[in-house]
Amino acid sequence: MPVWAVRQEEGTDMTTILVAGGAGYIGTHTDVELLTRGYDVVSVDNYSNSSPKALDRVADITGKHVKAYEGDIRDAALMNTVFEENSIDWVIHFAGMKAVGESVERPIDYYDNNVGGGLSLLKVMRAHNVKKIIFSSSATVYGDAAQLPLTEESPAGFATNPYGWTKVMEEQILTDVHRADPEWTVVLLRYFNPVGAHESGLIGEDPKGIPANLTPFIAKVAIGELPEVNVFGDDYDTPDGTGVRDYIHVVDLALGHVAAMEHINRPGVHIYNLGTGHGTSVLETIHAYEKAAGHPIPYVIKPRRAGDVAASYADPSKAEHDLAWKATRTIDDMAASSLAWQTKNPNGYREA
Ligand code: NAD
Ligand code: UD1
Repeated sequence: MPVWAVRQEEGTDMTTILVAGGAGYIGTHTDVELLTRGYDVVSVDNYSNSSPKALDRVADITGKHVKAYEGDIRDAALMNTVFEENSIDWVIHFAGMKAVGESVERPIDYYDNNVGGGLSLLKVMRAHNVKKIIFSSSATVYGDAAQLPLTEESPAGFATNPYGWTKVMEEQILTDVHRADPEWTVVLLRYFNPVGAHESGLIGEDPKGIPANLTPFIAKVAIGELPEVNVFGDDYDTPDGTGVRDYIHVVDLALGHVAAMEHINRPGVHIYNLGTGHGTSVLETIHAYEKAAGHPIPYVIKPRRAGDVAASYADPSKAEHDLAWKATRTIDDMAASSLAWQTKNPNGYREA
């Protein structure tokens, strides 16, 4: 029985989760899964990469409301108010900047927002004696791995860009926090490549400008907004020569957070890979979108993109064993849902 059901039966207070970055792509999908399971959700988001409309859509899907605060997690006064006004049990920390290329150009902003933001959050948590946090880390901490699939024991702590270093640093800070005070429960979730959207088509990924990542780019080509997909390299040591990644449906990823919260009931530093365990190539991904769209999607082969690895995929068996969680949605589900979101919302949350 999930934690909330037990609590309901016992007639005690509901579990309240602070979702930092609750209006973002993964945040909104996690809000939906939490609300539908009866948890209370509080969001703090400065909308630097999202829109409050996304939270209205969460309410449309669930019939329930997130308690939303607009502001920055580095704003100590605001965060103090949030913790005073709500009895927070867990924090899920999504509030970070995530564009690799931008991080190379604006390292100070990235370290300030991601590392500085993380520290601010920890300070207010300490002040209010809240010691349970789930952190959005990334497979990027494994760097260019020598051996696949990646397990939680694979060498980690490498990065090739400031964004990646912020993840390495935040993992280190959280590990040290637990070392200094063993009452802390720290969960480091290393996501592989989150894609897709909620089946309603009401929430999804809403990148600004021309997408840097593969699947939102393909979706825009599929609906005719961009002319063709650039395939970065077809001479990798992979079955069809194009890059291989472990794409994970964002709803499976959201459910991974719920599973972590419900199954981890002891302090410690708990690290999990959240992926499917399957690698999919760039060409296979394009073909999945062609199937969903019902028409061909034009693409051209371009040189390799600097900094890319040939292949990356997870061994997700630790999460399956400990959290009773497994990604079940396929690349076809990811393509179909991403396209449904893109078709219904060609301008994302912005008005046409
Ligand atoms: P997103 O940009 O859609 O969501 C992040 C949210 O946090 C946004 O709503 C943004 O406005 C908010 N935010 C950023 N800085 C803030 C601050 N200082 N104060 C308050 N709000 C702030 O990104 P996402 O894809 O949902 O990613 C969530 C987290 O997961 C990020 O930390 C990201 O690095 C990590 N992650 C994402 C991916 C991915 O491919 N999407 C992969 C690995 C890890
Ligand atoms: C990138 C980031 C990673 C981040 C993740 C978020 C880098 C080096 N890594 O991962 O830190 O967590 O996004 O999802 O940027 N591709 C094309 N054409 C495109 C775009 C991409 O062929 O227009 C290829 C890439 O070469 C790669 C695959 O598609 O083989 C996936 O690329 P992308 O979606 O950018 O994700 P990653 O590079 O894996």
